[in-house]
Amino acid sequence: MHYKKTGEKMIPASTWIGQRDLTGYTIVVTGANSGLGFITSCVFACLGANVHIGVRTKTKGDETIQQIVEYVNEHEPGRALDVQKRLFAHYVEMSDFASVRAFCQSFQQPIDILVNNAGLQANEKKTTKDGYEMTWQVNYLSSTFLTTKLLLPLLQQAGKDRGKRAKVINITSGMHKMVKDLDLEDINFDKKEYDHTEAYTKSKLAQILNVEYYTQVELPPSESPTSPLFYGIIPGPVKTNIYRQENGFEQPPWDGFADRPSPDEAAYPIFVCALEDYAAPGSLLAVPDGREDTKSDLAQDMDLAKSLWNYSIDATG
Ligand SMILES: NC(=O)c1ccc[n+]([C@@H]2O[C@H](COP(=O)([O-])OP(=O)(O)OC[C@H]3O[C@@H](n4cnc5c(N)ncnc54)[C@H](OP(=O)(O)O)[C@@H]3O)[C@@H](O)[C@H]2O)c1
Repeated sequence: MHYKKTGEKMIPASTWIGQRDLTGYTIVVTGANSGLGFITSCVFACLGANVHIGVRTKTKGDETIQQIVEYVNEHEPGRALDVQKRLFAHYVEMSDFASVRAFCQSFQQPIDILVNNAGLQANEKKTTKDGYEMTWQVNYLSSTFLTTKLLLPLLQQAGKDRGKRAKVINITSGMHKMVKDLDLEDINFDKKEYDHTEAYTKSKLAQILNVEYYTQVELPPSESPTSPLFYGIIPGPVKTNIYRQENGFEQPPWDGFADRPSPDEAAYPIFVCALEDYAAPGSLLAVPDGREDTKSDLAQDMDLAKSLWNYSIDATG
């Protein structure tokens, strides 16, 4: 498989298997039952980490743990003996702040790596019971802002205990560059007509602005040696379940779908970010090899990042 933009060869995340020992590390991955979240959980399990998966239901949790066990048996049998004891399912519905709070309260232990991955693109305008447009709440308010804020003490604790900073990794998109205006006053599409691509791209821009704000204002790395580091990941187009009708996409197969990179190939930058220490705090890492990608001007607008931060504190209570 070749990376379409450059023609370069993709590098599977599974290349990391056998390359690191994460015994004793605690990793949290949301949206872990499918696509990028699933393969990320599998590879972390192969590296010996304790992997906590965020999924919507117990059935999905049980099935996913079974599938991760099978993956480890097949790809890293040497780690298979204790894998069942290193996998933990937590339940979360990201369209509901109460569920996000309960999810975050279910963690007691220091967290070394948080992968904010759960996401969707609502095909039509839907309003959550908290009163927000669905894509905005799931992808940004819940899956990024509130989850990170509530797990922050445990991320800080890991930095203190291990003497090595924790990492927060937001799975965002190059499509953030399509946003011309992050109009927070009509982010719920109450006045203008709903557009699913617009809703999606705004949520992805907000994930990057959150990285910017933490890195430059809230927790600058220079001011605390133990605070977590924040990053965004640009996986490129990936062959996953996100491409389905309820997400506003034509149901595959369609021309070119089969040629898209697999989740294994697209997840590589997540591991560069998690396992290497050379990426500048606050950067966006992209396929195929975890190189730094560019941010749109809006994604670097610190006034906007501050407005979004203040808005998000009010919105999530
Ligand atoms: N695929 C791409 O081309 C692409 C490109 C750039 C960025 N991304 C980003 O990559 C991330 C992972 O997506 P994917 O492509 O791997 O898609 P996917 O296979 O559809 O996985 C999405 C995950 O998010 C979970 N999720 C969705 N809505 C949720 C909710 N309300 N509460 C809790 N969990 C929820 C899904 O759970 P269920 O299975 O229960 O729905 C699933 O586990 C997303 O943030 C997406 O925006 C994807």
